[in-house]
Amino acid sequence: PVEVKKICCIGAGYVGGPTCAVIPHIQVTIVDLNQQRIDAWNSDTLPIYEPGLDEVVKAARGKNLFFSTDVDKAIEEADLIFVSVNTPTKKSGIGAGFAADLKFLQLATRRIAEVAKSSKIVVEKSTVPCRTADAMRTILEANSKPGCHFDILSNPEFLAEGTAIEDLFGPDRVLIGSLQTEQGLSACQSLANVYANWVPRERILTVGLWSSELSKLAANAMLAQRISSVNALSAICEATGANIDEVAYAVGKDTRMGSKFLKASVGFGGSCFQKDILNLVYLSESLHLPEVAKYWRAVVEMNEYQKSRFANKVVNTLFNTITGKKIAILGWAFKKDTGDTRESPSITLANHFLTEKARIDIYDPQVTESQIWLDLTDYGDIPAEPIKPHVKISETVEEACKNAEAIVICTEWDEFKTLDWQKIYDNCPRPAFVFDGRLILDRKALTDIGFKVISIGTGDRI
Ligand code: NAD
Ligand code: UDX
Repeated sequence: PVEVKKICCIGAGYVGGPTCAVIPHIQVTIVDLNQQRIDAWNSDTLPIYEPGLDEVVKAARGKNLFFSTDVDKAIEEADLIFVSVNTPTKKSGIGAGFAADLKFLQLATRRIAEVAKSSKIVVEKSTVPCRTADAMRTILEANSKPGCHFDILSNPEFLAEGTAIEDLFGPDRVLIGSLQTEQGLSACQSLANVYANWVPRERILTVGLWSSELSKLAANAMLAQRISSVNALSAICEATGANIDEVAYAVGKDTRMGSKFLKASVGFGGSCFQKDILNLVYLSESLHLPEVAKYWRAVVEMNEYQKSRFANKVVNTLFNTITGKKIAILGWAFKKDTGDTRESPSITLANHFLTEKARIDIYDPQVTESQIWLDLTDYGDIPAEPIKPHVKISETVEEACKNAEAIVICTEWDEFKTLDWQKIYDNCPRPAFVFDGRLILDRKALTDIGFKVISIGTGDRI
């Protein structure tokens, strides 16, 4: 196998940045078309918030880690190129609302073919539909210079935001897919040798190209399915007097099941789950497997139901109207320990409350005010002026909760567990309602203070 001495990563996002920052010794250049993003990676304020990332980047930057907008130079110099660009859900055209938009991936692939003067290993790091590597190979081969050979590998990323650095230093597994030809297997070994610098060999799995691509969609679909299952059960709990945390605990004790990823919530968010399941739905439909498509689609539908069910519960509990009432939204990120808001359930809830003509006051420890406005206006598609009088963004929890008729926990930030709830209660009108969308609060302590606590998956029946 070729020894990888220089790596290029196309796409300096949530995946490209952290993934490459943990690679030791080997020279890595991460490139992006977005100058602002690259400037931020080269500054003291990195473009993304991720625990432990600052330290890792600062230790390697300028030594073996470089950030640049000179895409062509980095491609030319590299032996191995990670393609880690965004693959969002298509907004228009064939497959709109379901299929992955592969335009960024194809542009990057074309650029590689046009610029490369020597053979390269090209690694699909982005999450893509099954058989995308085939299209990449056709593009590369049709546009390459004589004597240039390209090997294509699939190496999907399994990191979760908020724990990315931990996940990258100690992954459950690294998955590499290649064609089962001599050339393909050799390229696969070259990449495996890169990971072997810090990942135990037995955790580096090598499989066929198509299995690798599909495994990524499968893993995300099955993880999301667990959440939708537990959220579906949470509705039954609310109606019966069962408690979802107790049910999840009992179910998770079965070693065949395991205890992780069974936390009921206001719904899952993030840039991956919904997008990747819809991608799988589209793939199934394209393969004339409508029953399979229907099965996976239900996971997303259950998630939508959970979000609207929770929003409706707020309205119903506040005596069927929230018009003109102040509602505090605690947490805007899609989960704790990230500043990422993509597909955050908070956005859906805020829109629901605004439609009901409530006033909302938002607090999040990591999300910027400008990002919240981008989310509320769907990146400029919805005019801001009409909603401005109904939206406030606060610097502290206390300010957001002051005079609120309902406090809604949307993100499980640790700091919400240790708030001075008595002080917050003293500044709220009565009855003071707290809606725990993440099951993080001490229900009894808050009830003792005087709050009416409404939690996912816990009903009033005794
Ligand atoms: P992102 O939007 O944060 O980053 C992608 C970057 O690629 C952007 O900065 C964009 O400017 C850049 N880019 C796009 N086209 C380019 C081109 N032609 N040349 C150079 N740069 C280009 O996206 P992300 O969250 O890092 O996700 C990247 C991929 O990884 C997606 O396919 C996603 O599904 C997958 N993934 C994401 C996560 C996650 O937690 N975010 C986890 C696993 C896998
Ligand atoms: C996910 C996958 O976990 C990761 O392997 C993949 O690479 C990218 O997609 P991410 O979206 O970053 O990672 O975070 P994750 O921890 O999976 O959480 C996704 C959403 O599910 C969040 O909104 C989270 O709050 C929610 N969730 C998670 C629950 O509601 N309950 C749980 O038990 C776990």
